[in-house]
Amino acid sequence: MRAIIDKLYKDQFLQEHELTDLLYGLKPEEESYLFAKAQEIRTKHYGKKVYMRGLIEFTNYCKRDCQYCGIRASNKKADRYRLSIDQVLDACVEGERLGYQTYVLQGGEDEYFTDSRLVELIEAIKKKFPKAAITLSVGEKPYESYLKYFEAGADRYLLRHETASEELYNRLHPRMSFLHRKECLNNLKRIGYQVGAGFMVGLPGQKVEDYVRDLIYLKELEPHMVGIGPFIPHKDTPLGGETGGTLEQTLILLAIIRLLLPKVLLPATTALGTINPFGREKGLQAGANVVMPNLTPMQVREKYSLYDGKICTGDEAAECRRCIEQRINKAGFELDMGRGDHKEWRGRDVY
Ligand code: 5AD
Ligand code: FES
Repeated sequence: MRAIIDKLYKDQFLQEHELTDLLYGLKPEEESYLFAKAQEIRTKHYGKKVYMRGLIEFTNYCKRDCQYCGIRASNKKADRYRLSIDQVLDACVEGERLGYQTYVLQGGEDEYFTDSRLVELIEAIKKKFPKAAITLSVGEKPYESYLKYFEAGADRYLLRHETASEELYNRLHPRMSFLHRKECLNNLKRIGYQVGAGFMVGLPGQKVEDYVRDLIYLKELEPHMVGIGPFIPHKDTPLGGETGGTLEQTLILLAIIRLLLPKVLLPATTALGTINPFGREKGLQAGANVVMPNLTPMQVREKYSLYDGKICTGDEAAECRRCIEQRINKAGFELDMGRGDHKEWRGRDVY
């Protein structure tokens, strides 16, 4: 198995059957070896730096019905909210005070936020915080809409592919298509965004072969960012009674992604911190180099409930900022409050 890990380290690539072997048969000492190699590559490209993104969850209305997600349209128990432009700007002001230079605007697919409202929001943030990077995460949209947001000043876009297994994708996403998901990701890249894809780990019925597809897809797409985290059941969804993903499986996948895409921006996600008190620290030690503390106003924090038990819902933005800094330092890393663009990013003007 060490030979396969060495090959991955050297070539940044593995054949399908090698990835399958790797995911099936890691012994504990081989696992530590994999993490050490991932760490080495991460240090080579990014040193000990951990980039910070301020996450603003600005609407939990969603027209989609993803089986796993707590804010799916069919969940009538979800207490819906949307923030006004002023509330988002206030969150950014607090973010700036705490030193953030990236704002991630995440929301459900909310039809209230038409293209013109989103453009207005993006322009308002850009005007007030010209140096900050804006990351959008608002789901599947037509090419023209993505282009409008980019022209308004959005720099990055997160759209997890969720799972690259068509059959599993279809089972989890009523009335959606994986083909269309991929088209959206291709469009985002073409327009010039720094793009984030990613998937969940431990979905009901998800097998090693499915992760292999995720890894192969990521290698083909070559996104700038990859968000992965364990699936965690939400009680008011059809998957509420299922078992969630594990820390170990998520860490192994993080490390493999670091080796497949050496310069990728890879968050240690909130979901990982939710299933284990040191999940995010362990994520960093397996090759992750980004964290995304919450800047969402306290009054609505709890309502952005994608899964049960989500951490940080009771903590002020300043508290999360302080807490995460301590955690990063204790784990042997350094906080970096810069914009944290991808290493090969040549700026938006070249597009
Ligand atoms: N468990 C873990 N992650 C989830 N997401 C949505 N619901 C859940 C859940 N129950 C993830 C999806 C989505 C991201 C914003 O949150 O991958 O893209
Ligand atoms: Fe939010 Fe620790 S990061 S409380």
